[in-house]
Amino acid sequence: MKKPARATQPKAAPASAPRVAIAIMAAGKGTRLKSQLPKVLHEVGGKPLLAHVIASATRVVPPEDVFAIVGHEADRVRAAVADTKVNFILQSEQRGTGHALMVAREPLSFYDHVIVLSGDAPQITPQTIASLLNFHLDQRAAMTLLSADLADPTGYGRVIRMNSRSPEVKTIVEEKSAGPAEKKNREINAGFYVFSVPQLFSNIGKLSTANPHAEYYLTDMASVLRAAGHRVIVWKTGSAAEILGANTRAELALIDHHMRLRKCQQLMAEGVTIFYPATCVIDSDVEIAADTVIEPFVQILGRSRIGANCYIRSYSVIRDCEIADGVLIRPGCVMEGSRIAANAILGPYSHLRPGSDIGEGAHVGNFVETKKIKLGKGSKANHLTYLGDSEIGSGVNIGAGTITCNYDGVNKHKTVIEDGAFIGSDTTLVAPVRVGKGAYIGAASCITEDVPDDSLGVSRAQQVVKEGWAKQRRTPRK
Ligand code: UD1
Ligand code: MG
Repeated sequence: MKKPARATQPKAAPASAPRVAIAIMAAGKGTRLKSQLPKVLHEVGGKPLLAHVIASATRVVPPEDVFAIVGHEADRVRAAVADTKVNFILQSEQRGTGHALMVAREPLSFYDHVIVLSGDAPQITPQTIASLLNFHLDQRAAMTLLSADLADPTGYGRVIRMNSRSPEVKTIVEEKSAGPAEKKNREINAGFYVFSVPQLFSNIGKLSTANPHAEYYLTDMASVLRAAGHRVIVWKTGSAAEILGANTRAELALIDHHMRLRKCQQLMAEGVTIFYPATCVIDSDVEIAADTVIEPFVQILGRSRIGANCYIRSYSVIRDCEIADGVLIRPGCVMEGSRIAANAILGPYSHLRPGSDIGEGAHVGNFVETKKIKLGKGSKANHLTYLGDSEIGSGVNIGAGTITCNYDGVNKHKTVIEDGAFIGSDTTLVAPVRVGKGAYIGAASCITEDVPDDSLGVSRAQQVVKEGWAKQRRTPRK
């Protein structure tokens, strides 16, 4: 996977480079979501809100300088993003965004500046974070906050400037405390800040809980720092969509929709054809190479990687699959955790369960289910078949209705079918069993013993023919 370039670093010379940390507030419960799942673990674009914020943060500073402040269901949150290698700070009681920073005092006091991000606003980009930091450093501010003009600012804190031409901020007023004039102000506090660490922590003790939520608001640091004679400024972003917070199910859906459209646009810009992108669900980490075509109503999820010149037809759901170049996926395939080599053809209606490894140019057809198998180059299983725990060589033909009986009720057993074998239709292969190279299995056989190379294995009842029997049956008795 291409590693994205690190966002622009602050301009300061390396010798005097300030030490910068990022703190991500992620301890809240998310009451407005009415969910058992902590807010920051709700997913948009196929991964948790917090994972998106961490991904942007770690493109600005290394993971060892990123601190996620967790609290509600802390263990679950930590586990969900453990692979990111960031640090965690426990806010065991969630008493507001200001309190979240109070508990982070000790680890953060090692730094000169701290960028504070909201764990529930997943579209923030590394470029915006870096611009905010640069503005803060250039302006030598104690607190710099990010704002945006929103058509509908309801629910957000409003930024009250000293005057309309100045970046200096007088105060931030939360929705619940805002008067009618303040509510009309469309410049909202995005919930992203940079603080000078000494000034933040020498004044944070002045926050109070005298507000409608009885919480310590981090937003009150604007008036606290200003009252102490420090510089508090705002930097307005032009891309308001970036700062949207997911506080309700409706906001989650909106952000998810934005993200998926952006993903489709990015892929199209890279040469992927997507018909009717509004119907396609493609997760943020998916990679697709140029000249692949995606029909309407396709889902490509998780860490799937798809090569060039593939054709993915409607109603297929592909999760965590690696698909090489030139693969044709006909309608209605469901695939997970599988690898498909170049020029294979799947579907319609194939079900590839985890561990399916489909060889170059192989065919897996309709109503064929596979699990933990290797199907060799050019082999075909075209109709109504179950192949599980099997190793199948190249050039093998699996007839319609073949079943590998891999489970004896207690253990799973393996079926091996070697190169060039031909399995007649309606065969059951009772594992463990091996069919040798170039061997034939007669249709409708139940194979319980190994069949050597180049042999015929057949096991079915001898056919009986009674001539004239039917005619005689139809003839009425006298
Ligand atoms: C906050 C801002 C508001 C801003 C908005 C932008 C405050 C008081 N208000 O409101 O001005 O417009 O974000 O989205 O800050 N959290 C903790 N610990 C806590 C409480 C919250 O870590 O004790 C975390 C939450 O998990 C969340 C983030 O802080 O990720 C923001 O909290 P939230 O309750 O969503 O604040 P908003 O009401 O959105
Ligand atoms: Mg919020």
